[in-house]
Amino acid sequence: MNRLHLWLRHETRTTERRTPIVPSDARRLIESGVTLTVEESPQRIFPVEAYEEAGCQVAAAGSWVSAPQDAVIVGLKELPDEPTELTHRHIFFGHAYKGQPGAEALLRRFAAGGGELLDLEYLVDEHGRRLAAFGFWAGYLGAALAVLHHRGGLRTPLVPTTREEMQAELRSGKGELSALVIGALGRSGRGACTALEEAGVEPTCWDVAETRDLDRRALLAHELMVNTVLTTSPVPPFLTDKDLDGPDRRLRTLADVTVDVGSPMNVLPIYDTTTDWEHPVRRLREQPPLDLIAIDNLPSLLPREASTDFSAALLPQLEAFGTDGPWGRCLARFHDANRELGIDKRELPDG
Ligand SMILES: NC(=O)c1ccc[n+]([C@@H]2O[C@H](COP(=O)([O-])OP(=O)(O)OC[C@H]3O[C@@H](n4cnc5c(N)ncnc54)[C@H](O)[C@@H]3O)[C@@H](O)[C@H]2O)c1
Repeated sequence: MNRLHLWLRHETRTTERRTPIVPSDARRLIESGVTLTVEESPQRIFPVEAYEEAGCQVAAAGSWVSAPQDAVIVGLKELPDEPTELTHRHIFFGHAYKGQPGAEALLRRFAAGGGELLDLEYLVDEHGRRLAAFGFWAGYLGAALAVLHHRGGLRTPLVPTTREEMQAELRSGKGELSALVIGALGRSGRGACTALEEAGVEPTCWDVAETRDLDRRALLAHELMVNTVLTTSPVPPFLTDKDLDGPDRRLRTLADVTVDVGSPMNVLPIYDTTTDWEHPVRRLREQPPLDLIAIDNLPSLLPREASTDFSAALLPQLEAFGTDGPWGRCLARFHDANRELGIDKRELPDG
């Protein structure tokens, strides 16, 4: 088998400081015989020099488009809009299999170029459990921002920080608060509970068992709610517009970590646009107030911690890169998605 060539790309989003491979793990990959090219990237939390010292080759930002055909392009978030034909194998979060906006267009780009998407969300073990995920830090930050906002202490625009700073802010706040985490047994849910506990709040924890016969009154009786569920099939919404206008609502702050906007899986169809670092909070109702935080790149606010944990989980998978096992499952999911859309390989982008 040819030596594996991984190509770590620059992220297009200017706020994306995370990386799926940190320099210490880059060194281990190289020691295990992998060739690793790393693109220059002004915002990545680790300087390119650290990768160079680890033995990586350095390339210009965005130069993956002309990378050798056998290179596997590794990133996290969306690709730039060009080129329209994707010829390589790509590892990243494509958000392309749940009917999300832009999903079909992305799959058509792969079909047009004959490339393949190995979507990190579908890198799972034989029981379907995700092998590398940012969930913990997403939940931690979603809950942390919600508490800080609820207590009037959220400084905007948001900027990347460290766990120590965030912890200090959470601990400095005071005040009784009733909080609910839904999806509490998952990675994000555990992160959310950790942040709330650091803020001195004992959350109510719900998971599948508690939402099967959902008690919306009990939900709305909490002042703060963090949604961290991951549903794979549509379930009745946890909240609708009508629920928000009821007289008994104590809910004032809602952090939607799941952010399934536009997807049929969305359990919170009460808003249609995400919020961002510049404007993290949007008021959904005035009387009484209800504020929403729905940021889709939360772990990027703790880029070092999030990257280090993710990279540690991804490393053994990259060391065992191949066409069976977890990567085989990833590839099968890509082909299933294409089949569901009736997309054939080598299709023209507008065809
Ligand atoms: N906003 C962000 O920046 C960001 C970052 C990373 C992940 N996420 C998203 O967060 C979500 C959760 O990710 P995770 O890694 O924690 O997933 P996970 O699988 O570890 O946890 C999901 C939890 O939701 C529970 N659940 C599923 N259906 C439920 C239901 N109907 N009612 C109650 N609980 C239910 C599951 O039992 C599980 O405990 C995903 O949608 C993921 O894409 C968002």
